[in-house]
Amino acid sequence: MALNRTKIIDIFANGELIGTKVSVKGWVRSRRGNKFIQFIALNDGSTIHNLQIVVNLEQFDDETLRPITTGASLHVEGTLVASQGKGQSVEVQAESIEVYGTADPETYPLQKKGHTLEFLREKAHLRMRTNTFGAVFRIRHHLAFAVHKFFNDRGFFYLNTPLITSSDAEGAGEMFQVTTLNVKMPPRDERGSIDYSKDFFGKRTSLTVSGQLEGELGATSLGLIYTFGPTFRAEKSNTPRHLAEFWMIEPEMAFYEIEDNMDLAEEFIKYCVSYALEHCRDDIEFLNKMYDNTLIERLEHVVKEQFVRLTYTEGIDILVNSGKKFEFPVKWGVDLQSEHERYLVEQHFKRPVILTDYPKEIKAFYMKQNDDGKTVRAMDVLFPQIGEIIGGSQREESYNKLMARIEELHIPMKDMWWYLETRKFGTVPHSGFGLGFERLVLFVTGMANIRDVIAFPRTPGNAEY
Ligand code: 4AD
Ligand code: MG
Repeated sequence: MALNRTKIIDIFANGELIGTKVSVKGWVRSRRGNKFIQFIALNDGSTIHNLQIVVNLEQFDDETLRPITTGASLHVEGTLVASQGKGQSVEVQAESIEVYGTADPETYPLQKKGHTLEFLREKAHLRMRTNTFGAVFRIRHHLAFAVHKFFNDRGFFYLNTPLITSSDAEGAGEMFQVTTLNVKMPPRDERGSIDYSKDFFGKRTSLTVSGQLEGELGATSLGLIYTFGPTFRAEKSNTPRHLAEFWMIEPEMAFYEIEDNMDLAEEFIKYCVSYALEHCRDDIEFLNKMYDNTLIERLEHVVKEQFVRLTYTEGIDILVNSGKKFEFPVKWGVDLQSEHERYLVEQHFKRPVILTDYPKEIKAFYMKQNDDGKTVRAMDVLFPQIGEIIGGSQREESYNKLMARIEELHIPMKDMWWYLETRKFGTVPHSGFGLGFERLVLFVTGMANIRDVIAFPRTPGNAEY
C-alpha cells in the first residue's frame, strides 16, 4: 500500500512519527555534502522550516542525484530519525527518491540565495518559494482568518458588496471604469457624448473604491455587518503604502456612536496582532531575525498599550509646536501626510493614536457633522511605520443634514437615491470603519513595501501577472 504523504509542518509537530517510515514531497532549497553523504533541505510551503533529507551515496547512483538541484521538486520516502547533526530536531534517511521536476541551475531565477526584495518583485511568479515570502503569505492567511473569527465571534454578519458599481463611495472620483463598449468607436448620443445607455449595465460603471455605502444598507437591516473584499483606486500614488487593488475590511454597526466605533477598532486590531503572534510565531521570528529585530517588540507593544485618543485640532497643535520641519507644512485644515501621522505616533506619543473630528472639507460627505459647523465625527487610527491604518466615522443619520452636504458638494443625487432611503425610513445613529488589509499585513510582517505583502501587486504601470 502506498504511504500517505505527511506535510513537513506535521513531521516536526508529531513526535510519534520518529522511527516510522514517512513520505514527504516538496522543493529542494539546497543540497550539500561529500562523496559519502549528501544533505537535501526540502521545503513544502507548510512551514518556514526545511526538512533535512540524508542521502547515503552507497544506496543511490549519480543518475538519481544529478537532477536534484535547488528548485527541483521531489518525492522522498524514508525513515524519520532524531537528527545527529545541529540545526534540526529530526531528519529523513532516504530510501527512495523520485524527481517530479528539475530546475536547471543555469536558468532557475532563485538558484542563488540572498536576492533583494526588488529583484524578487520582478519574479512574483516564483517569490513565494523563498523563506521571506513563504512567511509573509502564511501570516497573511492567518490574519484573514483572524478577521473572520473576530467578527463571527461577536455576532457580525459577513456581507458581500458589489465590486462593479455605479456610485463613487468616497467621492474622490479615482475609479477604474468597467465597460463592454467598443472603446475605439463608442456609441454617441445626439450631443456627441458617449451613450452609456448602450453599455452592459445601461449606465456608466466602475470598480468599487469601498463597500461602505452598501454596508450601511446591511447594518441598518442586520445590525452588525462587515465586508472583506477587494477595492480599487486609480490614484497615481506610487508610494510604499498604496496599491491600485487592495483588500479592505469594513464593519458597519447600527446604534454605534463614534466612541463605540473607536473601541471596536482598537479591540479589532489588537486581536489580529495577538492572533498572529500566537499562530505565526515561527514566521514572525524569522522576519524579526532577518529584517527588523524590533518587530516582535513593536507588535507586543501595540497589543499592550492603550491607543491615545485626541482631536485633529489637538494633533495639529502638537505638530505646529513640535518645531520640526516637515516636507508638507502643517496648519489647521490640511490633510495629514504620513510624515505627520508618524511623528505623532513614533516621536510624540510612542504608541498608536486615534485622531478624531477632522475638518469636513478633507473628509467624505457621509460623515456626521459636529455642532461647530467645521468638523465631522471622523476617526483615523494611526500606526507606527504605517501612518493611517484605519479610516472611519460616525455617519450622518439626519436626512436633511446629509442632503445639504450632498448639495454643497454637487454630488449627483440621482445616483444616491437608494442610500438616502436609509435616512428616510427608520434612520438610526450608526458608525463604521475601513481597515486596509495590506497595511495590517505590512505592520505585522514588518515589511517596508506594500508590494511585498500582496501576491500580485497592482500599481501604476504594473499588472504583469
Ligand atoms: O480611509 P479610506 O479611504 O476609507 C474608506 O474607504 C471608508 N469607506 C472606510 C469606512 O469607513 N468604511 O480607506 C480605509 C483604509 C485606509 O485607512 C487604508 O488603510 C486603506 O483603506 N487604504 C489603502 N490601502 C492600500 N492602498 C490604497 N491605495 C489605500 N487607500 C486606502
Ligand atoms: Mg482615509
